[in-house]
Amino acid sequence: MCGIFAYLNFDVRRERRYILELLFNGLRRLEYRGYDSAGISIDSSFSLDCDAVPPSLVFRQEGNIESLVKSVYQDVSLTGLNLEEIFSIHAGIAHTRWATHGEPAPRNSHPQTSGPGNEFLVVHNGVITNYMVLKETLVRQGFTFESETDTEVIPKLAKFIFDNTKEEGDRSVTFSQIVLEVMRHLEGAYALIFKSGHYPNELIACKRGSPLLLGVKELSEESSIGASFKDTQFLSSNGQPKELFLSSDPSALVEHTKKVLVIEDGEVVHLKDGRASIFKFDRAKGEHAGALARPDSVQRALSVLEMEVEQINKGKYEHYMQKEIHEQPESLTTTMRGRLIRGGSCKSMSVLLGGIKDHLKTIRRSRRIVFIGCGTSYNAALAARPILEELSGIPVSVEIASDLLDRQGPIYREDTAIFVSQSGETADTLQALEYALENGALCVGITNTVGSAIARHTHCGVHINAGCEIGVASTKAYTSQIVVMAMLALAIGDNTLSSQARREAIIDGLFDLPSKVKEVLKLDQEMKNLAQLLIAEQSLLVFGRGYNYATALEGALKVKEVALMHSEGILAGEMKHGPLALVDETLPIVVVATQDACFSKQQSVIQQLHARKGRLIVMCTKGDAASACVGGSCRVIEVPQVEDCLQPVINIVPLQLLAYHLTVLRGYNVDQPRNLAKSVTTQ
Ligand code: F6R
Repeated sequence: MCGIFAYLNFDVRRERRYILELLFNGLRRLEYRGYDSAGISIDSSFSLDCDAVPPSLVFRQEGNIESLVKSVYQDVSLTGLNLEEIFSIHAGIAHTRWATHGEPAPRNSHPQTSGPGNEFLVVHNGVITNYMVLKETLVRQGFTFESETDTEVIPKLAKFIFDNTKEEGDRSVTFSQIVLEVMRHLEGAYALIFKSGHYPNELIACKRGSPLLLGVKELSEESSIGASFKDTQFLSSNGQPKELFLSSDPSALVEHTKKVLVIEDGEVVHLKDGRASIFKFDRAKGEHAGALARPDSVQRALSVLEMEVEQINKGKYEHYMQKEIHEQPESLTTTMRGRLIRGGSCKSMSVLLGGIKDHLKTIRRSRRIVFIGCGTSYNAALAARPILEELSGIPVSVEIASDLLDRQGPIYREDTAIFVSQSGETADTLQALEYALENGALCVGITNTVGSAIARHTHCGVHINAGCEIGVASTKAYTSQIVVMAMLALAIGDNTLSSQARREAIIDGLFDLPSKVKEVLKLDQEMKNLAQLLIAEQSLLVFGRGYNYATALEGALKVKEVALMHSEGILAGEMKHGPLALVDETLPIVVVATQDACFSKQQSVIQQLHARKGRLIVMCTKGDAASACVGGSCRVIEVPQVEDCLQPVINIVPLQLLAYHLTVLRGYNVDQPRNLAKSVTTQ
């Protein structure tokens, strides 16, 4: 949901062309967060007249990053701007947008500005909920607005505050004081980066609710490696040449530096003179201060990113979604690494989930376990529910985060609420987490993003360690989430004699899973052929039940979101209660009928669909084609058999491949589906 990026070099000579390319590359890394328009602001050449505000150059363009790049170079050549000009200090900001307020158009793209002269510029990820009130006030003060965005009030408010302090004769007001005062008026969610001609060579970042990281690269880094990451190491400028970066997520930082600071809600980071000072926004203090508050700086330590550049490149694949589908054998291996212990004398040690081990007793005593998530993460929880119920004996419910909030559904102190989120930043899930915390539940996070808001705000949790997922359609995160939840079920469940055989079978199954996924990936060409057959269809139904109801929902979600084909996942047990009316000889229907306790029921569903001349594609266990496809002829997808609770991990793979190939064949953008964005940080 929008990506923001900034770059500030200190005492490092950089050409304007280099700075531009660095900003564009930052945006390319963040493009999956939003891709309907983009913009940047860089410095013009400085004026010798010290009182004049050096104008910032702003470029904004509708469309993806490459459209912006093209238009910037066109503008540069028209205006004769010198690309070879060298800057020892330079502050640049950049934005890639997923529209919330106002259509994709240059005027609605960021940076948004304070008005003519671009005195204050802002890039924003999030939504300002009280922008209408602020806008009315600013209009009364003589400001005119040119966009329909909620963001435009922010730079205008900064200018209003700046002008007022000047009128009052306070010439020493700092950039961070202005921004702290702006924050006092903002409601909603935001990560913001400010640039101003009044404060050349400085940048300010602040956040509430939306993610933001600072990256620090010291150019004589080798000499400081090994030193502990104390605040002073980067808070003081120590005269060392530096490059400082701000980014919505680590993917745009990792190629520059691994030293990062995850900025916390309410923090203001002021980049100036090669130094990063951090202030904490204190609403109460601001309200009583009268004049602008003079904040105290806080101390924070840098952490080290555990991410490699290769993880964010496509490698030999054409698309991220394709790469991520094919890397599932490896991502699942990483998810399980160090967490499973097979056999041995100490059976209770069969699963080790370090992040929750101190809370296992409380979880076991819960009155109920509630999974909460959105989209694919919700589907993964649904796939894992049966095994958690079976092994723990605790009632398990699965909630869509927004629906739980809409209903204000009951959450009790005796509940364990488990928040499932690939990004760890989804606004609905985060708000549901706040709600569960207020209601006193034990909150557990299952995320793929170390340092994400959900990882930080839950009491405990497990990282799925699937590696960076860049394709907007979630694939490898889904299978890793199911595996983590199966391991969670093993960890929570009693290791009684009666459950021992089942537990061991699941653990064996987990060990074998990567090789079984490798096997099912061999269906790639077959799925491409099937996609060719379905290329012109309007609609696709997917029937599943039991463990594979989730497969039906998730398979249909993949097809609809990337291939832009209507697709619906249907609980097969509900077929006679409505969906059967849709069945005729034209509508393609996938029925998931692999071997498990529901197999005979699925056989009768298939028979009933055949009786209505349904156009069936049956997913069945290898060698089962004849018995699965009872009552008529159908196309089959044969998949390897694994333990029933792990079968959804196998069964989703052909449907991921089908969605991928359908999309490519239909000519749509696989990694950037229409109207969507990864990481939904607005509600
Ligand atoms: C679908 C998809 C979305 C996400 C959903 C939740 O492919 O990716 O449905 O699963 O937006 O996102 P996270 O898991 O980041 O909370």
